[in-house]
Amino acid sequence: MEKAKVSAPGKIILSGEHSVVYGQPAIVTALDKRLFVEIKEGRGKTEIITDEDPNLAYYALLKTEEFLKEKLPVLRIKIQSEIPVNRGLGSSAALAVTMVTALLNYLKKELDKNLINQIAFEIEKKQHGKPSGCDNSIATFGGTIEFRRGKIKSLKIKPNFGFVLIDSGRAVESTGEMVALVRRKFNYLKTKKVIKKIGKATVQLIKELKKDDFNKLKLKTLIAENEKLLEELGVIGKKAQKIIREIEDISGTAKICGAGGIKSGSGIILGFHQNQEKLKSLLRKRNIAFFKAKIHQKGVRVEKD
Ligand code: PMV
Repeated sequence: MEKAKVSAPGKIILSGEHSVVYGQPAIVTALDKRLFVEIKEGRGKTEIITDEDPNLAYYALLKTEEFLKEKLPVLRIKIQSEIPVNRGLGSSAALAVTMVTALLNYLKKELDKNLINQIAFEIEKKQHGKPSGCDNSIATFGGTIEFRRGKIKSLKIKPNFGFVLIDSGRAVESTGEMVALVRRKFNYLKTKKVIKKIGKATVQLIKELKKDDFNKLKLKTLIAENEKLLEELGVIGKKAQKIIREIEDISGTAKICGAGGIKSGSGIILGFHQNQEKLKSLLRKRNIAFFKAKIHQKGVRVEKD
């Protein structure tokens, strides 16, 4: 029986979330947590098996049909994911990219990454309103990218520069809602200034990361500055701010790495410390979940089985 199995990575934004929506650059890197889609021939009507809300996956079918200008056959689609949802790790983009690629693969069409990225961007628009396109781009191309106004530049960075990913909890707001919140404030001069400053910090971080032997202290300063500016934008809730202050109190640095959230959790926090054990011990003491992750991973790919 015909079968297609495809996976795409989640991501973290090292710098530039929200400001990237307004044309500033962002640094985005692919994680070693992936989402898998398996497609087989279906019976009766198309069925999507998933632990999460299947709406976006059904929308992906419609959008792909629209682009291909042909009706899809009846399918049985299984979605499995290692990427936690609503935590700024790009799970919806990974779903969009994986669905499109799996469908093209099942239909034995050419896997043109630019086309895949284009269709996935249209799908992301349903989820996020006016997304920048950075999430679908990293899920498609992988590695680490500098993303600005739809342009993607590949960045070669050291695969591991010692951080942990800390869970401040699932955001109850969607990315679209958080982006809309910032947009409502965008007419204020203060907001425009904050966006520009995030852009400046991101440009400096890009310069730093391009160096063979980048300065960890500089990296820390820029990450801390990015966090302070995101707090000024008002996208980070009290719970995440408290965790970040505690990390700073032990001379560490942390920032959220996605759209954020204010009513409850703000998603994943990127945490650094010269002495990682010190940071881990604080998180354990406070009962805060964290995990280590690899970055600079492969983009969408066809799985052998
Ligand atoms: O969906 P998230 O939480 O990974 O955030 C995406 C990054 C934003 O800059 C907030 C939105 C965008 O479209 O770039």
